[in-house]
Amino acid sequence: MIEDGLRLVGSAQTNRAMEAELVRIVKKALARRPEAPRRDGTGQLAYAWDAEVARVALTYHRTSTRVVRDLYASSARRLEPLYEELVEDVRRDRRDWHHGLRSISVEVRRVDEFAAGERQVVGTVKNAIVDGLGQRGARVRVEVDEPDALVVARMDDRGRMLVGLDLTKGTRTRRGWRSEAGEAPLREHVAAVMAIEARYDPRRDLVVDPMCGAGTIAIEAALAAKGAPVAMGDPAAPLWPEARPVVVAGDRDLDVLVAARNNAKRAGADVIFQRGDLVTLDRERIWSLAADAGAVPERGLVLCNPPWGERLELAEARLFYGALGDWWRGLRDFRAAFLVANPAFEEAFGARWAMKKPLSSGPLRGYLFVYEP
Ligand SMILES: C[S@@+](CC[C@H](N)C(=O)[O-])C[C@H]1O[C@@H](n2cnc3c(N)ncnc32)[C@H](O)[C@@H]1O
Repeated sequence: MIEDGLRLVGSAQTNRAMEAELVRIVKKALARRPEAPRRDGTGQLAYAWDAEVARVALTYHRTSTRVVRDLYASSARRLEPLYEELVEDVRRDRRDWHHGLRSISVEVRRVDEFAAGERQVVGTVKNAIVDGLGQRGARVRVEVDEPDALVVARMDDRGRMLVGLDLTKGTRTRRGWRSEAGEAPLREHVAAVMAIEARYDPRRDLVVDPMCGAGTIAIEAALAAKGAPVAMGDPAAPLWPEARPVVVAGDRDLDVLVAARNNAKRAGADVIFQRGDLVTLDRERIWSLAADAGAVPERGLVLCNPPWGERLELAEARLFYGALGDWWRGLRDFRAAFLVANPAFEEAFGARWAMKKPLSSGPLRGYLFVYEP
């Protein structure tokens, strides 16, 4: 079946953040709202194809990892019918999605329910696309290393095999600016999700991350505030060039902080770095750093991913998260969002959260806790 869809793929439990971000950037870039999406599972949004919205998402959408154009869908469960259906769809398709393409590569994801192994599905999809395009007089070869386009095939939550073009050509959680990382750097798109879930408003909020590691959260917040293109080196103009985000980041480890500063420089993100233990970054210090930068934000927002805790003993973790709770209470009127995997956090932090939701960064399965003052 011929499909025409735009799909934003991200981490589990991030549909709401991905949708909210798309509304924000499309309203700014195109002066209209995108239509409401269909949610496919917990980490995929499906929209009708809209080339303008796709361009905006591809350039500016930070909370997704991939932007895909869905082209074909098949309910086949075996290789032969999949090939036959796909080759026929490609042959009779009148769209020119393959315009200018000389080579493709194929990747499959989540095809465990299919009655064949991944490699066989890859081979079948490749053959069907190359043969179907060939029947339309278009010659496309398969190229694994540097293809002009990446085709992805994946089962959707209705059990259909969806075949589409991965417009991001692979996951883009790595933006390219983080060549120096701390101990456990957060995935960039997860940092972007944190900012959206905490309702970061760059016109009003000062952001502080007192344990910034490689600086991922601070850098993503500063870039999101400006609506900077996701890919480093993309010459597209930022959506909010006039934005002056105030973002403060600290860490007690000097080497880590130097790395974070270099990362911010590469990313073109304005972040105020401050070395020291979190207790030294108190309310007065934070506001005076903002004042030195000539900024007068209305409110404060903590965005932080404290040490996960595999390395912390339970007693030590309790003390540490308790001290973190005391530090936050000392800020008095700051909202806060913490991404943590350690089960000791919730109780030790010592405050009732306003929101708690599962959020993972790679193999680390954690929760995002949001607190209101
Ligand atoms: C999980 S890492 C943060 C990772 C970060 N989000 C990133 O993406 O790179 C935690 C950081 O907290 C810092 N840290 C731990 N205890 C601290 C304290 N008491 N004060 C300041 N920084 C601390 C560590 O040096 C480490 O860089």
